Amino acid sequence: MSNTATLEINGEKYEFPVIHGTENELAIDIKRLRGGTGGVITIDPGYKNTGSCESAITFLDGEKGILRYRGYAIEDLAEKAGFLEVAYLLIFGELPHAEQLDKFHSDIKSHAYVDEEVKKILDGFPKAAHPMGVLSSLTSALTAFNPSSVNVDSEEAMYNAIAKILGKFPVLVAWTMRKKTGMPLDYGDDNLGYVENILKMMFKRPNQEYTQNDIIVNALDKLLILHADHEQNCSTSTVRIVGSSHAGLFASLSAGISALWGPLHGGANQAVLEMLEAIREDGGGTKKYMAKAKDKGDPFRLMGFGHRVYKNFDPRAKIIKVAADEVLGELGVEDPILDIAKGLEQEALADQYFVDRKLYPNVDFYSGIIYRAMGIPVEMFTVMFALGRLPGWIAQWREMRLRKEPIGRPRQVYIGENHRAFKNLNER
Ligand code: ACO
Repeated sequence: MSNTATLEINGEKYEFPVIHGTENELAIDIKRLRGGTGGVITIDPGYKNTGSCESAITFLDGEKGILRYRGYAIEDLAEKAGFLEVAYLLIFGELPHAEQLDKFHSDIKSHAYVDEEVKKILDGFPKAAHPMGVLSSLTSALTAFNPSSVNVDSEEAMYNAIAKILGKFPVLVAWTMRKKTGMPLDYGDDNLGYVENILKMMFKRPNQEYTQNDIIVNALDKLLILHADHEQNCSTSTVRIVGSSHAGLFASLSAGISALWGPLHGGANQAVLEMLEAIREDGGGTKKYMAKAKDKGDPFRLMGFGHRVYKNFDPRAKIIKVAADEVLGELGVEDPILDIAKGLEQEALADQYFVDRKLYPNVDFYSGIIYRAMGIPVEMFTVMFALGRLPGWIAQWREMRLRKEPIGRPRQVYIGENHRAFKNLNER
């Protein structure tokens, strides 16, 4: 296999090394392109062909529909591991043994509170505020309450910062929901598992004992694992690029939450449910929406379909589809939009427009149906995604800092005016 690539510009040839990934991916290393060619750069809007880093965290093959965290198949992790184990794996590189997991959980629990003053910030938001805006702001506010920056050269300081955010973030998630639902704030219970505690903090009513529902705990555990990392997507790249300026971990995460919010990224789970609901209210027929999705004059897209990297089934979508059937069945919930979703999927998979463009259901297509069955309000869906993605963002931020990556600062090709003589106000 070739170890160099040759580029010819204006008759001049330049050689560049070719990097081989452990899964035989090839990349042309253009670090010296600009310097070596006297100013030539590459342009790649949306970074469709650009690798921004070398990473040892997540491998995905969009053509074959493969997703692995640290070498472990997503199917195995979703089936056999718990969310906190997967978080540990993503962040530190290996599955924890029992003692490490216990210690990790108890260290996280020791941080599972936020400064009481944070409540005042939460109070200041209108009830109608979108939970993603609230979550991003509260995460950023944590920076004010934890001002010292992490000493990334100290393993202990890194570990403590990670335990801190893994402890505090679920509190913010739950409070964001309780603000929306008008419930008094709750701090959860140290005796519960990480995921069970999150559910308790979200749903506990002030006048009732809270009883866990194992079906819901297991379903949320699985959903969080499936969302935990996805290599250099929009929000993760945001976390890495913000962190590359040596902004703090919490500030970088807050930026990642904002990036996740958009409907083309994590916000799609809310958009899918709203789309399916609109189809239901319209009588259940999908033809109109299929036609809209294919109409180039109409900005409408079939939400939950298509992916920048997967040109085959998103393996997460396959698992979530099965889980949706199981969870709704076990909970005894009959949701007509599950049938609408299945019908829409069949129609799209058989439609030439979708076949030609290799558009398949993505992770968000069925997740909202499960969240809804759990009693989570639709505006909270992307917050749940953020909760799942947190370990991935942390792992990617940590990797970027430990590898001492340079500040992210892309170049551009300028297409504006050439130099112009300034005209005074009265001459324009
Ligand atoms: N519905 C209809 N047409 C679509 C869809 C869709 N959901 N997705 C892509 N297409 C079409 C585009 O119009 C384009 O058609 P063209 O070649 O005729 O111009 C072609 O497929 C390629 O689409 P791009 O937008 O170039 O693909 P890109 O990789 O930039 O976008 C994205 C990927 C943003 C996910 C896109 O498929 C999309 O908007 N999907 C709907 C939103 C969604 O579900 N997002 C969640 C993604 S998963 C995640 O982030 C967690």
